[in-house]
Amino acid sequence: MTHQENTGGALRTRFTETFGVTHPVVQGGMQWVGRAELAAAVSAGGGLGILTALTQPTPEDLAREIQRTRDLTDAPFGVNLTILPTISPPPYDEYRRVVVESGVKIVETAGSNPAPHLPLFKEHGVKVIHKCTSVRHALKAQAVGVDAVSIDGFECAGHPGEDDTPGLVLIPAAVDRLTIPALASGGLADGRGLAAALALGADGVNMGTRFLCTREAPVHDSVKEAIVAGSERDTNLIFRTLRNTARVARNSVSDKVVEILDAGGSFEDVRDLVAGARGRKVYEDGDLDAGIWSVGMVQGLIHDIPPAGELVGRIVDEAVGVLRSRLALAADAG
Ligand SMILES: Cc1cc2nc3c(=O)[nH]c(=O)nc-3n(C[C@H](O)[C@H](O)[C@H](O)COP(=O)(O)O)c2cc1C
Repeated sequence: MTHQENTGGALRTRFTETFGVTHPVVQGGMQWVGRAELAAAVSAGGGLGILTALTQPTPEDLAREIQRTRDLTDAPFGVNLTILPTISPPPYDEYRRVVVESGVKIVETAGSNPAPHLPLFKEHGVKVIHKCTSVRHALKAQAVGVDAVSIDGFECAGHPGEDDTPGLVLIPAAVDRLTIPALASGGLADGRGLAAALALGADGVNMGTRFLCTREAPVHDSVKEAIVAGSERDTNLIFRTLRNTARVARNSVSDKVVEILDAGGSFEDVRDLVAGARGRKVYEDGDLDAGIWSVGMVQGLIHDIPPAGELVGRIVDEAVGVLRSRLALAADAG
């Protein structure tokens, strides 16, 4: 795969300039999904593809996955480091060391304060995008020195936080107070979304669900077909009562988890239902009721399974079209 550009429009933003990518379109970290094939396809299409570090069982496996991505594309790509509270944490410092020793120059952090990672990354010229879900966390990340933030609205797949602020309010509220580039994330899937994000003051978009439903996403076709068939109403919010909310596909397992927790159950009561190994089976075997799997409301806007690189170009072309025609016409009429 060589570094190709779409034939149509182009959008230059502070994000494309700071991170050296062609298009302001990022594929966010996705557990079990952010592997070499997908990240390379997005980056080769001019976006920013991101490998998910913890999808690799060991730091050595991550080093191999980084090399595999390099073998597929010469375009820049990043690595996601998701820091979650857990009883036996993975060796984050070793994953971090692999990133810098491999020469990767872009990292997406998520889950908790990025500060402990920044000294090593800064020392090696690695730029950091921190993903967060509130204005206060975005400001904190800026204060500790990240290069950009990705701001997930309530619509997003995965962890939307506990404030329930949708992107339409969260993104402008954040950019009003930030000086570093910001990516709008959550609920975005097409050129209208990218144009809207730019209109709200963001410097680009970050997407998960849309890239999960692409040809290179390493998941069973049934998952992609379910996303195409799914509507914006087909997600569940689990772990609300535990204040660790996650937006996932509505299925028999997530319905059960919501029911148990709403009835006063504890994490122990749902531990088996939410086990990562069960969720992984969904992606591998295509059994949509095997466990919990992440998906966003934006599935209601997804109607096809395109190659990821082509999708990046299509989204940019659409956004340029919206900005040049629809919005320009509306402004002229005024
Ligand atoms: C299948 C899946 C797995 C995800 N895993 C992670 C993860 O491990 N770390 C992380 O920071 N975000 C994760 N996310 C969140 C995405 O990076 C992104 O922030 C989110 O999907 C944006 O919302 P959208 O799906 O509406 O585009 C995941 C999303 C999906 C769909």
